[in-house]
Amino acid sequence: MNLIKNYHIVTYGCQMNEHDTEVLSGILEQLGYQWTDRLDAADVLLLNTCCVREKAENKVIGHLGELKKLKQQNPDLVIGVCGCMAQQEGIAEKIRRQTPHVDLVFGTHNIHRLPELLALAREGNSTVIEIWEKEKGIVEAMPMKRAGGVKAYVTITYGCNNFCSYCIVPYVRGRERSRDPQAVYEEVKELAEKGFKEVMLLGQNVNSYGKDLANKVDFADLLRSLEDVQGLERIRYMTSHPRDFSDKLVETIKASRKVCEHFHLPIQSGSNAILKKMNRGYTREYYLELVQKIKEAVPKATLTTDIIVGFPGETEEDFQDTLDVVTKAEFDTAFTFLYSPRSGTPAAKWEQVPEEAKKERFQRLLELQNRISIAKNRQLLGQVEEVLVEGPSKTNEARLTGRTRGNKVVVLEGDESIIGKTVPVKIIEAQTWSLVGELNPLE
Ligand code: SAH
Ligand code: SF4
Ligand code: F3S
Repeated sequence: MNLIKNYHIVTYGCQMNEHDTEVLSGILEQLGYQWTDRLDAADVLLLNTCCVREKAENKVIGHLGELKKLKQQNPDLVIGVCGCMAQQEGIAEKIRRQTPHVDLVFGTHNIHRLPELLALAREGNSTVIEIWEKEKGIVEAMPMKRAGGVKAYVTITYGCNNFCSYCIVPYVRGRERSRDPQAVYEEVKELAEKGFKEVMLLGQNVNSYGKDLANKVDFADLLRSLEDVQGLERIRYMTSHPRDFSDKLVETIKASRKVCEHFHLPIQSGSNAILKKMNRGYTREYYLELVQKIKEAVPKATLTTDIIVGFPGETEEDFQDTLDVVTKAEFDTAFTFLYSPRSGTPAAKWEQVPEEAKKERFQRLLELQNRISIAKNRQLLGQVEEVLVEGPSKTNEARLTGRTRGNKVVVLEGDESIIGKTVPVKIIEAQTWSLVGELNPLE
């Protein structure tokens, strides 16, 4: 008999979910479970879901259907659904009705309850559902099993208060809550002591960090406090809302050695009318000025963004404004999305742009952005960049992969001993999404 129990977690969505998976893994390992890559060898199988767009949701539903066979093969298997989709109103009931082979559904606010919930799921015959409608403060000191040993996620704020009119996140992640700065500092220090070189500070809007705390501390202060952590080389953060990107923050990043020169500033649309309907709280002029300010303060800055195409009411003129901002801002990369109506959000009820028009605009935007991305990457040809080597390349295992301070992926040949090290790399090939480099150009 196999005494060791295995678990597998399928993770969808953003870094928050990836990090929640690290916590869920930590909890399961404390209970004695071991990770398995094979779904059919798992005794506990969790789907950590995303619902930000319809496509993400459909993937989860498709996957759930496929899992029925695994349950037939192994009746002791516990199948659980958690994450943002599970937190959505009405979804848990729907899962119980449509996919009764699911044993457990729990939301984003109660992942620390996993041990008790698992026990309940093992005992009973019907689907165990526990969704806390409201967040209840922050649970500190959760066990975590970090993926990799070079860079780590550290949550600084949970939830979101922005209510952009298209977005489901505030409904499934609750109100904004900042972690205590000392707890963040301790976690980063501990990571650096364990050998991690880079931290990614996570929050839906990191720029509003601290607003809900009793002591006056903001995101810039938090960044400054991490500067002296011994052994830590790089600090990144995700995501910052352009509206709240203060001058103090620009100055702090400029003065910092550790905060990387990468600015991910989701613009969403280049049209003032659409930005207003989106409830983003800034104009295209404000955004372009902010970009200018950043580029002046930090000449090596790389700039990336998120853009939604086909938001309700978007006209060809509005879309032209988006293309215009893309041309002016010269993003290194833009993550582009077709607008997807999310029930429960205001924009889902507004008049929609026809599917064809959306797709055609999306294609034009993609072509423009790809031209800019490759041109930007070509500017790096022959330059020497500082690359933090992360591990073997996913596409070519004989090679290593790492990132520049500007967050560009670089593939290079080299010995495994340089994993976790920051090395000078000469860029010898430029593609749209990545670079190829050569180690030790000075030798
Ligand atoms: N908090 C971050 C990220 C939110 S989700 C931010 O404010 O930028 C990541 C991206 O998904 C968003 O930036 C947005 O571009 C996209 N997105 C969110 N809701 C969407 C929807 N309903 N349809 C299409 N894209 C959406
Ligand atoms: Fe969604 Fe807007 Fe919050 Fe980002 S800032 S998570 S887009 S509501
Ligand atoms: Fe992230 Fe998707 Fe939830 S983008 S916060 S996992 S809805």
